[in-house]
Amino acid sequence: MKKVIEEKKMVPMVDLKKQFQEIKDEVLNVLTEILKSGQYILGPKVSEFEKKIADYHGVSEAVGVASGTDALHLSIDALGIGEGDEVITTPFTFFATVEAILYTGAKPVFVDIEPDTFNLDVSQIDIKITEKTKAILPVHLFGHMADMEEILKIAGRYGLKVIEDCAQSFGADLNGRRAGGFGDAGCFSFYPSKNLGGYGDGGIIVLDDSKVADIVRRLRNHGSKGSYIHERAGFNSRLDEIQAGILLVKLKRIDEYNRKRRQKAALYAELLSDVVKCPVERKGAYHVFHQYTIRSQRRNEIQKRLKENGISSVIYYPVPLHLQGALRFWGYKEGDFPVAEKAAREVLSLPIYPELEKSTIEEIAEIIRSTV
Ligand SMILES: Cc1ncc(COP(=O)(O)O)c(C=O)c1O
Repeated sequence: MKKVIEEKKMVPMVDLKKQFQEIKDEVLNVLTEILKSGQYILGPKVSEFEKKIADYHGVSEAVGVASGTDALHLSIDALGIGEGDEVITTPFTFFATVEAILYTGAKPVFVDIEPDTFNLDVSQIDIKITEKTKAILPVHLFGHMADMEEILKIAGRYGLKVIEDCAQSFGADLNGRRAGGFGDAGCFSFYPSKNLGGYGDGGIIVLDDSKVADIVRRLRNHGSKGSYIHERAGFNSRLDEIQAGILLVKLKRIDEYNRKRRQKAALYAELLSDVVKCPVERKGAYHVFHQYTIRSQRRNEIQKRLKENGISSVIYYPVPLHLQGALRFWGYKEGDFPVAEKAAREVLSLPIYPELEKSTIEEIAEIIRSTV
């Protein structure tokens, strides 16, 4: 007799299968349309998607690329930053943020973070600026924007470029202005688990400078001006037609998805804010809760209990970038960025996605409350 194994289903961090069921017909229709068209690279869906993304952000240009990492890399390159230059950024982010800087030959220079939003502490930027500094690269972590108004003031004072890492903040805004629309370039990732995610890798850069946009367009396509003419080497980094088609289906729903994330976040806060530190939303900020990240000195116990009860949770990020082995050669040491280091010891991200049930949030909150 076949042995029946009862598999206990884990509550995931995001439920992409559930989301697919809701948009299945539209997605399959667009895929069929693209497959029948025979145009798979830089076709009409990529152009349509770029136009809609530019409009959504109130900018003149959007250039689709192969990933969020490439969006950052190509933006830094196209803005003329490279070997010998310094780029100010945060040590508390996904590794790709600094990889993109490293690819260009520039040096990431870290500034510590704020303890409540986990974003760059703008009051510490000035002292890190040297003659080599060419840009500031804030990350709008977990869906809450960095203090862009202050960052633009500092950049203006020193003549620096600003590149926004918006990989976790599609649709977030600050005083009505959307993430990505503040700096010289706004860089997005469409990695499947992002709040706007494709079914594979993808990214886009939004900007208001047609010259820089043209440089990016060449860089994404082997440096070609077209007709097999190359004045410099570029990369193979194009957004796939199929991903653009899928993303067009989801783009229509992104504001609704973000609204639902905010509702889930509000419920978590209601149930948890007296026992753990819940995310803050600064005045004027519209948080899209790409992650719902709590802080607690007992987060390891919380994570263990959640796991025992079939609930996923993730530590974003357990090791700040200045302490990563890959960056050891710069000689950073423990204690250099104490706020980021403390955050790394205390953060825990809980499941959050538009389809997450109220009863699951209540269950998660109950487990946490009975642990701390
Ligand atoms: C903050 C941040 N920057 C950059 C990236 C890189 O994006 P991608 O995975 O699309 O290359 C990600 C996500 O993966 C991210 O979370």
